[in-house]
Amino acid sequence: MSAQIPELSNPSVCMKDPQRVQDILHSMVKAGSNTLQVISDFDMTLTRFSHNGKRCPTCHNILDNSKVISADCKQQLDHLLHTYYPIEIDSSRSVEEKLPLMVEWWTKAHDLLVEQKIRKDLLAEAVSESEVMLREGFQLFFDHLHEHSIPLLIFSAGIGDILEEVIRQAGVFHSNVNVFSNYMDFDESGVLRAFKGELIHIYNKREGALLNTGHFQELRTRPNVLLMGDSLGDLSMADGVQDMENILKIGFLNDKVEERKRSYLDSYDIVLIKDETLEVPNAVLIQDC
Ligand code: TMP
Ligand code: MG
Repeated sequence: MSAQIPELSNPSVCMKDPQRVQDILHSMVKAGSNTLQVISDFDMTLTRFSHNGKRCPTCHNILDNSKVISADCKQQLDHLLHTYYPIEIDSSRSVEEKLPLMVEWWTKAHDLLVEQKIRKDLLAEAVSESEVMLREGFQLFFDHLHEHSIPLLIFSAGIGDILEEVIRQAGVFHSNVNVFSNYMDFDESGVLRAFKGELIHIYNKREGALLNTGHFQELRTRPNVLLMGDSLGDLSMADGVQDMENILKIGFLNDKVEERKRSYLDSYDIVLIKDETLEVPNAVLIQDC
């Protein structure tokens, strides 16, 4: 049945075990779309990694490149990015080695942002003036899930307020969308004073999922999961799902392809290499309904 998905023959698609993918798809289609939930990372998964050869921004980069940040702060945030991003994508280091360094990155970046006394009312402009782009096919992706009442959880180590603004401005922040992310805490005059709750970074999404058991409890009649991510840390986003029956994991491999391909193929069922579109996830969803 799922051999009928022609998009799985796209040149960007790699699979370690295509038969396994067929079997999972077959079970999910049989169970029906009312048993499905989608859990997706945001930065570099729902958003593009690059456009016309130029890198696209993450939620954090949207602020880093905006007028709400002083030139000095921008320089410091750029320095952090150039220090820690190579560590994030370094396949020669273990997660155990990277984890404390990622906490360090997030903590330093958030401390710098808080020092900037960012005003809530300037966030929408920072987003509209940025070069952020959702991946090609985003409209179909969000609209299809909404039309079929399939819950979409966006689980991001980015910044919730920015992420929401991106999808709001794109006209796809539908009622079936829930977001777990780092949210800003503003004082009564609308000035950033802290970030709320437990920090979410790329390697603690499991803990984040387990803190939100209520969400997954509500979705317990949906034991089939489509998971989408671009980091190996995204694989634990579904750890809170109750009584899971089938999970299909789609991973975007955007950068350092040769070094990371093996580990992505070992962890994700479908790996999309330098694919800036949502064509494959859309094809999977459409055949599922
Ligand atoms: P994600 O979970 O939505 O993909 O968000 C995490 C991304 O944010 C991760 O790839 C690193 C990126 N990031 C920045 O670009 N700048 C920063 O200052 C920080 C802390 C993270
Ligand atoms: Mg990401």
